[in-house]
Amino acid sequence: MRKISLERARAGFCIARTIQSLDGRVLLSAGSVLTEETIEQLKRYNITEIYIEDEISRGIAVPEVVKEEIVLDVKAKIKNIMTTPTMKISIDGKKVMEMVEQLLENILKSDYIIANLSDIRSIDDYTYSHSVNVCILSLITGIRMGIKGESLKELGVGALLHDIGKVMIDEKILQKPTNLTINEFDDVKKHTIYGYEILRNSSDVSSTAHIIALSHHERKDGSGYPYGLKNNDIPVPARIVAIADVYDALTTDRIYRKKMMPHEVVDYMCSLSNKHFDKAALDAFISNIANYPVGTAVKLNSGEKGLVARYNKDFPNRPVVRVVIDENGKMLIKPKEIDLIRKPEYRIVDIWDI
Ligand SMILES: [Fe+2]
Repeated sequence: MRKISLERARAGFCIARTIQSLDGRVLLSAGSVLTEETIEQLKRYNITEIYIEDEISRGIAVPEVVKEEIVLDVKAKIKNIMTTPTMKISIDGKKVMEMVEQLLENILKSDYIIANLSDIRSIDDYTYSHSVNVCILSLITGIRMGIKGESLKELGVGALLHDIGKVMIDEKILQKPTNLTINEFDDVKKHTIYGYEILRNSSDVSSTAHIIALSHHERKDGSGYPYGLKNNDIPVPARIVAIADVYDALTTDRIYRKKMMPHEVVDYMCSLSNKHFDKAALDAFISNIANYPVGTAVKLNSGEKGLVARYNKDFPNRPVVRVVIDENGKMLIKPKEIDLIRKPEYRIVDIWDI
């Protein structure tokens, strides 16, 4: 299977992965064939990308860090918590801990600790998808940094709830498609303090989670908020969540901008590593990220084009590429595979749209 933008979808394409709305309703199931009507329906649901199965991508399986049904389940549960009226005062920490344990159990079982989370989701459910993704990304970064046991779980709880204070911010400001005014941005900044207060009032939520809600927008050079903390004054769990938060936000389509590709975001974040992010946490984070997820159409330095077919364990950026177009632009009758670990002279130089 491979991933394409919905703009490239045509009637007759075969869906490789079930597309669900946030409430778990199946919009289109795997194996179904697109029609003009279903394409229009997906557009109405703000779906921007889909997985398809075709001749050139047959046999390519996209690995999941956490099973899709678990992600959907946790997403629905966190939505439930965040839309309960009493949550503006406090929440039940035990329920959140159960969700983190559910995610962690899956992550620890996965063969690849690789984030391939730019999944198929609707723009509408951003808040909940973002919370779950930040949690998964923070957990795998924490694991890579050697964080274990209760500390790891507390990191997960804080990551899942990092933006909980946004329930106190005017929805109109949060959804505004244009630049915020200074006053509006000052309001948004307060979500850190509101989140800290909600979690401090809550039962069974650790101080690690309080601190994450408060400090996930602090930046190494002191340019962050709410307090402009610098370097080691920013607690380690908040440094991890800051990285996961920025990465997931930039790799997702928003109302006000198009998403960036994983490799573009990694380059951007590395360029800011001294100013914004903790070097050790960023290194641990990047070692889990596949710049070119399986199913992505890529161009090699040889001029050949193909699809990322599978990862080499521990080397997410030296995958196996299924070449389908030669250096002269001719479609190969029989695709060939190039393993970038065995062929160091090859490298991916770009992505392309097919
Ligand atoms: Fe935030």
